Amino acid sequence: MTTLVVGANGQIGRQFCELAQQAGTSIKAMIRNDEQTQWFNKRGIETVVADLEGEFEHAFEGCDQVVFTAGSGPHTGPDKTLMIDLYGAIRTADIARQKGLSRYVMISALRAEKPLEAPEKMRPYMAAKFAADAYLRNSGVPYVILKPGRLTDEAASQQFASSVDEAGDNQISRANVAHALLHVVQQSGVLNREFPLLDGKRSIDEIIGEDRP
Ligand SMILES: NC(=O)c1ccc[n+]([C@@H]2O[C@H](COP(=O)([O-])OP(=O)(O)OC[C@H]3O[C@@H](n4cnc5c(N)ncnc54)[C@H](OP(=O)(O)O)[C@@H]3O)[C@@H](O)[C@H]2O)c1
Repeated sequence: MTTLVVGANGQIGRQFCELAQQAGTSIKAMIRNDEQTQWFNKRGIETVVADLEGEFEHAFEGCDQVVFTAGSGPHTGPDKTLMIDLYGAIRTADIARQKGLSRYVMISALRAEKPLEAPEKMRPYMAAKFAADAYLRNSGVPYVILKPGRLTDEAASQQFASSVDEAGDNQISRANVAHALLHVVQQSGVLNREFPLLDGKRSIDEIIGEDRP
């Protein structure tokens, strides 16, 4: 079982790739250019160069599932949000379906289902995440949607919560998201489930094992 990591050179992406490599979980890192290969080569991680705004079907060769942790980031405008966070995620689902992948694990965002409740500047991004998630749910590809809160650069506590009420806050470290992602990637039986993710006090096993729709 090999997992294609779309957005592998990102902050969550790199931490996830490193954890997966250490755990002996087979991955292929999709990165945007040759200069980015060095970091992955040093760690013995396979890479493929491809861009979500171009043709990237070749990246899926030999892969059984896909993780989407790419994002246009805060330094670009709604044009890139549309092309990467939305259309890039949609095209990833289309290719996953065509190739019969067993699962698509999406890094979405907490409360993506309510874009109008986000601060005005964040609304296009939340709407893109909302629409990408909706497309994935209807794509026919088995999926897991992880919905992290506001991302921080704290160290991994490996302790989680699944609601703001439980967490008492709306944030989660990227390091914790990477750990949660590894857990999900390794649990191939988790299908068509969605998990809000925050820093908290419970193990990821408990969160993923929660019996809710
Ligand atoms: N920021 C938040 O508070 C927050 C909250 C919830 C969820 N999220 C989601 O969390 C995920 C990852 O966050 P992060 O902090 O790890 O983000 P990040 O560091 O900005 O990483 C995003 C990655 O996406 C890649 N990317 C951008 N455009 C691309 C393209 N055209 N083709 C292929 N790859 C492309 C970037 O490539 P380069 O390395 O080449 O630039 C980068 O590696 C995103 O899906 C984001 O929407 C964020």
